[in-house]
Amino acid sequence: MYVSNRLVKTTLASLCFLTLSLQSAEQASEQIGQYNLGEKVTKKQLSSWDISIFPDGKNLLEGKGDYQTGKGLYDMQCIACHGANGKGGVKLDPYRGAIATLVKSEGDSLTSATPKKNIGTYWQYAPSLFGYIRRTMPYQSPKSLTADELYALTAYLLAENGIISKEMVLNKENLPKIKMPNVDGFICDNKVDTKSVPCMKDCPLPNEKAYNKDVRIDHVDHLKSDCLVQLNIPFE
Ligand code: HEC
Repeated sequence: MYVSNRLVKTTLASLCFLTLSLQSAEQASEQIGQYNLGEKVTKKQLSSWDISIFPDGKNLLEGKGDYQTGKGLYDMQCIACHGANGKGGVKLDPYRGAIATLVKSEGDSLTSATPKKNIGTYWQYAPSLFGYIRRTMPYQSPKSLTADELYALTAYLLAENGIISKEMVLNKENLPKIKMPNVDGFICDNKVDTKSVPCMKDCPLPNEKAYNKDVRIDHVDHLKSDCLVQLNIPFE
C-alpha cells in the first residue's frame, strides 16, 4: 500500500511536470513575436538592397533606352568626370586613370606595354555594365537613375565603344545577348592554394594546358562562379 502510494505520487508529479513543460513550450511558441525584437523584412524593403544584376541578365529591370537619350544624360551627369564621349577620365597619377576612361580609342589594347582598360577592351558582360552604373554612378548620387535612364546610358556607352549600333534600343531581352569583345579574355583560375602542389621551376603559365593539372575540380566547385581572372594582362 505504502509503495504503491509513493508510486502514484511520483507518477502524478512526473505527469504534472510533463504537462507544465508542454504548456510552457506552447506558451513560448504563442509568445514569439511579442518580444519586440524586430519585424519581418518585407520584399519591398529588401528590394532596395537586392540589386545585383547577373552576367546572364538575371534581375535586369523592365524598361528601355536608346543612344540619343543616353548621350543627353551622359552630357549632363557623367561628362564632368569621364570626359567628352567617355574618352577622358581624370588621371591623378601617371600610371592609371583614377577616374576611369569609359570608351576605347583606336589602338587601345590590354596587351600593350601599358594596358588600356575600358568598356571596349576589358568588360566581359553587357548586363554587368548596367548593374555597375545602377549601383555606383553618378559617383555623387548612386542609385538615382531610373531603369530607362540606365538602359539609355548603357546603349550610349556600348555604341560609343563600337559594340552596338546607335539605333539599337536596349531592354532586358537584348542586353544579355550582346557579345562583348573581351568575353573570352578571362579564364577560370580554379587553383586552390591548399590543394595544389606548389610549382617552383618551369611552371606552366595561366593559359597553358598544364596550368590546372594539379587541381581536383571536386574541391573547387563552389568557387567556380567567383573564379574569373583576366588572362591577357601581363603581371606587373
Ligand atoms: C564625380 C565624378 C564622377 C561622375 C559624375 C561619374 N563618375 Fe563614373 N566613375 C567615377 C570614378 C571615380 C570611377 C572609378 C571608381 C572605382 O574604380 O572604384 C568611375 C567608374 C565608372 C565606371 C566603371 C569603369 C571601369 O571600367 O571600371 C563606369 C561604367 C562609370 N563610372 C559610368 C558613369 C556614368 C554612366 C556616369 C553618369 C551617370 C558617371 N560614371 C558619373 C567618377 C564619376
